[in-house]
Amino acid sequence: MNTQNNNSKLQDKRVIIMGGTSGIGLATAQAAAAEGANVIVVSSNQQRVDDALTTLPNTAKGYAIDLSSEQNIKSFFDGIGSFDHLVYTAGENLSLIYLSNLELENARSFFNLRYWGALASLKYAAPHINQGGSVSLMSGTASARPGAGWLLGASICGAMDGLTRAMAVELAPIRVNAVSAGVIKTNLWNGLTEADREGMYKYLGDNLLLKRVGEAEDIALAFTYLMKQQHGTGQILAVEGGTLLV
Ligand SMILES: NC(=O)c1ccc[n+]([C@@H]2O[C@H](COP(=O)([O-])OP(=O)(O)OC[C@H]3O[C@@H](n4cnc5c(N)ncnc54)[C@H](OP(=O)(O)O)[C@@H]3O)[C@@H](O)[C@H]2O)c1
Repeated sequence: MNTQNNNSKLQDKRVIIMGGTSGIGLATAQAAAAEGANVIVVSSNQQRVDDALTTLPNTAKGYAIDLSSEQNIKSFFDGIGSFDHLVYTAGENLSLIYLSNLELENARSFFNLRYWGALASLKYAAPHINQGGSVSLMSGTASARPGAGWLLGASICGAMDGLTRAMAVELAPIRVNAVSAGVIKTNLWNGLTEADREGMYKYLGDNLLLKRVGEAEDIALAFTYLMKQQHGTGQILAVEGGTLLV
């Protein structure tokens, strides 16, 4: 059987990255484009979309869309035509929340973009994905190894892991996988002061097996692998510097 067919390359593939204008999503768009993919990046802020496009080849396209709205997601996929790979990395800054100061409505809202946005994207994207295509979702080590204050991050990542497996079963032969990241240096942590952020990176990195927290490019490599490989589905690929072993 020929497993090295055209689907195992990204050349001329159409790749849509929801949340593709910053951090992990932008690094994934750049990595896919470097392998010849025609990338489409989506996020809510037009300026960020424009800035991202300046770092991508001329063939790239970008759309400013708020992915916390199901209707927006439906309209986008209704108009985009067929494509090969969907990557969903959209997410907003997450604060540490402890049970003692939990406000339930506020906590619920954190699922809108990361979980419901991903699920709505699966629903409206699936009919347009070409044979040999894939969906890759974003998860994190917080579900398996949460610290105090991580109840929301842990819950969302656990939900994403279950969603990945359930969708792999339902959407086969479209492959559905996720990347589980540890702490990665991106704009996601911009809510912290620079001193706190750098201190966190150093403290956490020093305690990891690989002695550094991740870079967006580490996760982009995992996403391009998940698009190209042809025989794995329902998998949560952990790329986390050894977070789960220390
Ligand atoms: N960084 C980490 O340590 C880490 C670890 C594990 C998992 N993760 C997860 O990885 C994902 C990507 O995070 P990142 O670190 O790459 O963060 P990032 O650099 O802040 O990127 C987040 C992206 O989401 C987009 N976004 C935010 N709100 C949106 C909305 N309402 N509609 C559409 N797009 C929206 C942002 O663009 P706009 O502002 O233009 O909307 C941006 O492109 C997140 O789900 C995060 O939870 C991150």
